[in-house]
Amino acid sequence: MAGKIIVIGSLNMDLVVFTPRFPKIGETILGSSFSTFCGGKGANQAVAMARLGADVQMIGKIGKDEFGQTLLENLTANQVQTESVLEAEAQSGTAIITVDALGQNTIVVIPGANRELKPEDIYCLRETIQHSDYLVMQLEIPMETVVAAAKLAYESGVKIIVNPAPASDLPDDLYPLVDYLIPNESELSILSNLPVTTIEEVKAACAVLLQRGIKNLVVTMGEQGVFYRGEDQEISISAYPVQPVDTTAAGDAFIGGFVTALAAGLPIQTILNRASASGAISVTRQGAQTSLPYDHEVDQFLKVR
Ligand code: RIB
Repeated sequence: MAGKIIVIGSLNMDLVVFTPRFPKIGETILGSSFSTFCGGKGANQAVAMARLGADVQMIGKIGKDEFGQTLLENLTANQVQTESVLEAEAQSGTAIITVDALGQNTIVVIPGANRELKPEDIYCLRETIQHSDYLVMQLEIPMETVVAAAKLAYESGVKIIVNPAPASDLPDDLYPLVDYLIPNESELSILSNLPVTTIEEVKAACAVLLQRGIKNLVVTMGEQGVFYRGEDQEISISAYPVQPVDTTAAGDAFIGGFVTALAAGLPIQTILNRASASGAISVTRQGAQTSLPYDHEVDQFLKVR
């Protein structure tokens, strides 16, 4: 029986413009289309895990507005448990996203209600957190909330996974609590304060973070694949080649795949393959939560490769 997963993180309504190319500073251009998608790194990761068959509960905050209701209903429709998604006296989180013809994006997040998720909320949910097996967090909620939740989870032996996105320095006392840190190359560079362009540089930056107490690092590098560094093991895997349509939430799809396979007790090589497949499928589809694959789609993708 796979373990129970709690995701503490953001819920955003994504307002997305598809455009042939990004405008230059001060330039006006004509885009191709506009859509809204349910997003937010926390909610995306929770939906990714639920679609892959995990038992997952979300802790977060939405506003008392239409976006909040839509975000909540979409989580429920995807079998994410939502009884700990709270309401705030603030607008629901939004993200303004531009996607170009190559599937690349720019994202500006307005945290809104996500910023109102405070350590006091986490203390009220102590039992829920401490009775889970895995805790997954990102950095679109206040850092003090992330640290408070990590401390509670650590006390009870809950495995802690942190995706340090958007990139930000982490407090020193968080590192030793984290079982798996999953940055991309630029987040790794900011955390280690080192350049990260070659695989040698990735390894050197990982060594710095391991010295701070992290147990396992998983570095996602887009088309360059994934590098895993555990306490006594290193694994590099290549990316699955796909034609990108929209890379939004590719990292979230990867983390969903990673944690679901981890909670199912699979070996690390299989975990990395399933996570990469999940990320690769998501970039072939538009939107955040709309792009996240189901378990049978990951199975099928891996079968033909
Ligand atoms: O990781 C993608 C997500 O980042 C988007 O859904 C957007 O809401 C921002 O949080």
